[in-house]
Amino acid sequence: MIEIIKEHIKEVENFSAESKENSESFRIKYLGKKGILNELFKKFKDIDANERKIIGKEINILKSKVKKKVLEFQSEKKEEENKANEDLYKPGFPIEFGSEHPLNIVRKNIIGIFEKIGYCISEGPEIEDDWHNFTALNLPKHHPARDMQDTFFIKRDPDILLRTHTSSVQIRYMEKNSPPIKTISPGRVYRNEDISARSHCLFHQVEGLYIDRDVSFANLKHTIEYFCKSMFGKSQIRLRPSYFPFTEPSAEVDIYWGLKSETDYRITKGTGWLEIMGCGMVDPNVLNNCNIDSEKYSGFAFGMGIERIAMLMYQISDIRYFFQNDLRFLKQFSKIN
Ligand code: PHE
Repeated sequence: MIEIIKEHIKEVENFSAESKENSESFRIKYLGKKGILNELFKKFKDIDANERKIIGKEINILKSKVKKKVLEFQSEKKEEENKANEDLYKPGFPIEFGSEHPLNIVRKNIIGIFEKIGYCISEGPEIEDDWHNFTALNLPKHHPARDMQDTFFIKRDPDILLRTHTSSVQIRYMEKNSPPIKTISPGRVYRNEDISARSHCLFHQVEGLYIDRDVSFANLKHTIEYFCKSMFGKSQIRLRPSYFPFTEPSAEVDIYWGLKSETDYRITKGTGWLEIMGCGMVDPNVLNNCNIDSEKYSGFAFGMGIERIAMLMYQISDIRYFFQNDLRFLKQFSKIN
């Protein structure tokens, strides 16, 4: 009999329950009314007095081992139940909030500044025809200035291309509306350029257009000063003569950034001045192309790259950061604005 009991002890020690049913049948097998322990106790009565002591001890060992196992299962079960109950009260998985892209922050800032002085927003297609991107903007076929912006062509003759500037939107706007016109056109533009720290095939622009009777260069200068003051808190600007086919006269706008810090020295190359946009008085040919009487109306236009402005605002040294979507870069802007 002692052998049988020892076998049982071994079995109990090695037993591990794989399921609830499993552990329940284990309990019944040993502790049930007709279970092994009861059977053993029944047989125990008929045992010789001299063997009783040893066998009794073994049966008790078996009993306590079985009870311990059963208790273990029960507490495991409880723990699982507790866990399941607990989950109901736990908050969900923490969701990490994203942050606004710096280009979007700057885009909104620029738009907000012009909306305050009555500009509306106009948008147009990124895939353009030759007329809206070039010809109507006083850049007829074979005009050398077409090379100023390396173009991605989708189809040739008739040309379909990715717009190289949002001036194309201004043409569309002028074709559909008559003066007074006061609109800004934010959007993506494409140029077939080598990607480097300073240039990228895809970037973003905001271009502005104001057309009315008696719009002068002084109005243009004042508008740009207002923009610089609102955007950068600095309004000292200079207008450097430049060339754009669609404006005459044309100018490049520099802002006086200052030379207070080492960074100022670095980004202005020691001059204190930074180029921020192009502008000019709309060429009469452009107005006529859009059926606006250039004898009656005049206007100005300006255009800037959002990346360039964002690089200045946040002192970002490489344009490629904007497109890599590295979370370590993007998260820095979650608290700005
Ligand atoms: N379209 C020009 C560019 O993309 C910018 C510009 C707009 C210049 C309006 C003058 C007037 O470079």
